Amino acid sequence: MGHCIATANGSAALLVALEALDVGVGDEVVVPGLTWVANASAVVRANAVPILVDIDPETLCLSVEATRRALSSRTRAICPVHLYSSMADMDAFRALAAEAGVSLVEDCSQAHGAAWRDARAGTLGTVGVFSMQQTKVLTAGEGGAVITASPELARRLEQLHADGRMFRPPTQVTGELELAEIGEVMGANLALSEVEAALLLEGLTRLEDENRTRERNARRLDAALGELPGVTPVRCLPGQTRRSYYHYVLRVDVRRFGWSDVGRLTAMLSAELGFPAERVYRPLNDHPLYRPATKRTTALSDSYRAAIDPARFHLPECERAHAEVVSFHHRLLLGDERDMDDVIRAFHKVWEHLG
Ligand SMILES: Cc1ncc(COP(=O)(O)O)c(C=O)c1O
Repeated sequence: MGHCIATANGSAALLVALEALDVGVGDEVVVPGLTWVANASAVVRANAVPILVDIDPETLCLSVEATRRALSSRTRAICPVHLYSSMADMDAFRALAAEAGVSLVEDCSQAHGAAWRDARAGTLGTVGVFSMQQTKVLTAGEGGAVITASPELARRLEQLHADGRMFRPPTQVTGELELAEIGEVMGANLALSEVEAALLLEGLTRLEDENRTRERNARRLDAALGELPGVTPVRCLPGQTRRSYYHYVLRVDVRRFGWSDVGRLTAMLSAELGFPAERVYRPLNDHPLYRPATKRTTALSDSYRAAIDPARFHLPECERAHAEVVSFHHRLLLGDERDMDDVIRAFHKVWEHLG
């Protein structure tokens, strides 16, 4: 992509990406209803309106058709998030964004190293956004980045994340700051530290090998666990040529066991595995951490408050995923074949006793 602006975290990356694209008052940004809260809260921080849109049940990523229906004359950007282990349909989103004349903010916080038709995740949108927070497959404890091919956007991004300053060529004067005060756009201090950058550069040398280990183990689990009654591993679309795993996710037909959701199942699996089995995110229209009205900074007007009210969105597939999908953090996939056999045995034991 040519340009990478390293930020303090993924939330900051999302914010400066939106600001660089000039998203602001009166604009709408399409965000999936199933994702981390930062995707919606960054839009609110930019004083724009997040339009929460339902997911494709196959991949758990933003639905192309639901996005098409949500577009309006105020839409300024679409933010597909590559969730857990699947990429959003980037052929369709690129075509849709071009047709609608809006920007594409590709969130790859959960997809470091994934690829769509052999192009790396992050290179397919107007900008690609990453988080390197501690649970991610590439991490420095905290960290983020925005990548772009556009020199104009990179210039804005650099200033937006450094209080309006930009790097100048290394100075010959010892101790002199290498930042020039440009001020074409007002920024904030949202920069990554050099210590974190050093950790990330080291982590990058391991990423490819670790991604291959996770991919190999996930395939082994898919084959074995997909045989269990009611279990369907979440798939990726044919356009995704490399899969990376932030979480390993399986859909379970809970109704055949007489349950309304996977809550009891995750407790049983966690106990048997000694490793947490989790439910996927609560949909953003009913998420305890996505409450824009709890901050007076969002009280711009009554109509703005009404527009950002998460409860006004209807997200049936996000709700179904929250009820039916079981999720495991990627470190489950970093073991060897015997570890995967332990996982498979634990599932079999739980399934034998489900009745
Ligand atoms: C999809 C997605 N976007 C953005 C973020 C925000 O990143 P950070 O926690 O580094 O601010 C996260 C973090 O969990 C994420 O998963």
